[in-house]
Amino acid sequence: MKDLLQIRGLCPEQINAVLDRADEYFSLVTAGKKPFPKLKDRSVITLFYENSTRTRTSFESAAKYLGAEVVNISVGASSVQKGESLKDTALTLDAMYPDVIVMRHAQSGAPHRLAGWVRAHVINGGDGLHAHPTQALLDMFTARRHLGTLAGRRAAIVGDIRHSRVARSNIYAMSLLGMQVRLFGPKTLLPEGLEAMPCTVCSSMEEALEGCDVVMALRIQLERMKGGLFPSAGEYNRYFGLNKKVMELAAPGAVIMHPGPVNRGVELSHDVLDTDICLKDEQVTGGLCVRMALLDMLINKEL
Ligand code: CP
Repeated sequence: MKDLLQIRGLCPEQINAVLDRADEYFSLVTAGKKPFPKLKDRSVITLFYENSTRTRTSFESAAKYLGAEVVNISVGASSVQKGESLKDTALTLDAMYPDVIVMRHAQSGAPHRLAGWVRAHVINGGDGLHAHPTQALLDMFTARRHLGTLAGRRAAIVGDIRHSRVARSNIYAMSLLGMQVRLFGPKTLLPEGLEAMPCTVCSSMEEALEGCDVVMALRIQLERMKGGLFPSAGEYNRYFGLNKKVMELAAPGAVIMHPGPVNRGVELSHDVLDTDICLKDEQVTGGLCVRMALLDMLINKEL
């Protein structure tokens, strides 16, 4: 496998192999050990055209944990600002012989274009409304650590499905691993085409959460909205936010996940934020370990 651009096209065995390797790294990282330098003399470039805290930092940390060199391109301070095209930026970076380029871009499909131009492995760090495959892998990693086997489990994804590449990647990842996927959100934030995806659209929070093992809240993406898609943050929280009371609809022991960044008090109320049932910080640690596994397995040709 040269590139990781989306979840579609992967098979469950490949996903489980990445999660198994990530498990090994999770044990080492949480024990405070630095794993051995499996990627010594290798190099990773991060090329982010959109803001990021978790994805960019965890790729950098993952590469460094494994002994690789990392170059972070700050697009705002690069020749992109002089009008350099995506193709010329790609060819310029590839001419420095990196092993991996991790890219985030506002345009769906941009990492696919990049992958066609460069020798380096390309990992999609999120493209437009299309895909965020490493987020879905870290979400599956976190869910698996809490639930054991994922096959037969029920998941609900709640919120702004329309603007969410996280939701699109998770629908496919969950389904590939045998989970039943339900969606619930404001009608204005449900995109067309969901009927072609392996999921069920629910018409109430009760229907979505009943018997669910995992409830994933999505961030309201105000920066992608042209306005008027829901009345107010308070109203959104009332009808679509997760809180302790709403979680009583789910299965006993159900967990909450959120890709971050969280709009506190909007998608998640304060009585579930920073509690044991909310795994948002553990997802970040999982993200580090999943990205270590991916870099390791892509570069060492184990995928
Ligand atoms: N979940 C996620 O992609 O977060 P960042 O935008 O901080 O990378």
